[in-house]
Amino acid sequence: MKKNKLRVGILFGGRSGEHEVSLLSAASILKAIDRTKYDVVPIGITREGRWVTANDAQALLTGKAAKENPRLAGDPEATATAAVIRRGEAIIVPPVPADSLQPLELSAAAELAPQQPALHIDVVFPVLHGTFGEDGTIQGLFELADIAYVGSGVLGSAAGMDKDAMKKLFKAASLPQTPYLAMLRSEWRADAKKATKKIEAALKYPLFVKPANLGSSVGISKVHDRSELAAAMDLAASFDRKLVIEQGVGGPGAKPRELEVSVLGNDTPEASVVGEIVPGAEFYDYEAKYLSDSSVPIIPAKLSAAESKQIRQMAIEAFKACDCAGLARVDFLMEPAKKGSKRKPRIYLNEINTLPGFTSISMYPKLWAATGLPYKKLIDRLIQLAVERHQEKQQTQFSRV
Ligand SMILES: Nc1ncnc2c1ncn2[C@@H]1O[C@H](COP(=O)(O)OP(=O)(O)O)[C@@H](O)[C@H]1O
Ligand SMILES: [Mg+2]
Repeated sequence: MKKNKLRVGILFGGRSGEHEVSLLSAASILKAIDRTKYDVVPIGITREGRWVTANDAQALLTGKAAKENPRLAGDPEATATAAVIRRGEAIIVPPVPADSLQPLELSAAAELAPQQPALHIDVVFPVLHGTFGEDGTIQGLFELADIAYVGSGVLGSAAGMDKDAMKKLFKAASLPQTPYLAMLRSEWRADAKKATKKIEAALKYPLFVKPANLGSSVGISKVHDRSELAAAMDLAASFDRKLVIEQGVGGPGAKPRELEVSVLGNDTPEASVVGEIVPGAEFYDYEAKYLSDSSVPIIPAKLSAAESKQIRQMAIEAFKACDCAGLARVDFLMEPAKKGSKRKPRIYLNEINTLPGFTSISMYPKLWAATGLPYKKLIDRLIQLAVERHQEKQQTQFSRV
């Protein structure tokens, strides 16, 4: 083993609904990552939130259930906890979900019991989508441990996860969005009639009702008229305390064009060519995303040079507006062109994804490949950006002395 190799922890699985997607992304990265440059440490997080390494991580990756007492950091005796360590400080990851609340424990490496071996890692690549992976929570853990990690920090991740917060930041940056309302489920549950009035006063059907914090279209409904509103609100309310209600882009009977751009970088991010997804359903729902192969990607999207330039610029602005870092996929909804109409179809920003699907055939890497950066080099670049960002942060002082 060469001394100067970076140790890269590839973190996958996790407690979110996108556990499987994460396994697929991680398997692709593990296959492609340049092992002459990096010592690669696969780290799995089970559905229950347990951190596993070595053979147990491999078992998790290939869909085999982790054993009762998974091996942690190579120690067959170890049971409850894995640790991420850097420079003598370690973060002990609690074995969630526990029946009692257990705080994160910070302790010196020397104090670690032998059954709690630590993983020595220079850079973490959290290949985790959705809750607890893409929402700033795990990024907070890396900040505490002072470890370099791929992707956005706590704020960028949390802002990119919360559709209401994201929209407020986009608005502050004057980025075009479809009209929307945010509402707490308590308000909906307290008086559905009043809430309906409020929604109908602000927005025109069709509407899209969404839980503010989720992904993969889970809990999202298209609402064609009032008769469908209550069911959609109740469904979204079962997934989050905050709901986002949007006016459907394109209006009744129309299907907007779904455009996506990959952004890469830290303080001076760059945008890939624009891609398009043509969903094989009324909208790009969970089924169309993962369960059928009817959704067709088109790279690059058929757009005028001006439209494409505008969309790429907006993607970079969206990335900056949410204070993102490393990578993000920025998604747009474009009105379908109306025959005979002279008005240019409007392009709206839909959302930003701070840890987009990352298999070699996912949109994010495919857009970079089409822009001239192949998958393996993209992984290198992301690791490099993580190290650069971590180094840049070392210039920050945390107190006056
Ligand atoms: N305002 C809207 N107008 C038209 N279609 C929409 C709108 N909002 C969402 N959709 C459809 O629903 C899909 C999922 O919505 P999105 O906000 O991207 O949620 P997720 O974070 O789960 O991907 C979009 O890709 C699009 O097909
Ligand atoms: Mg989406």
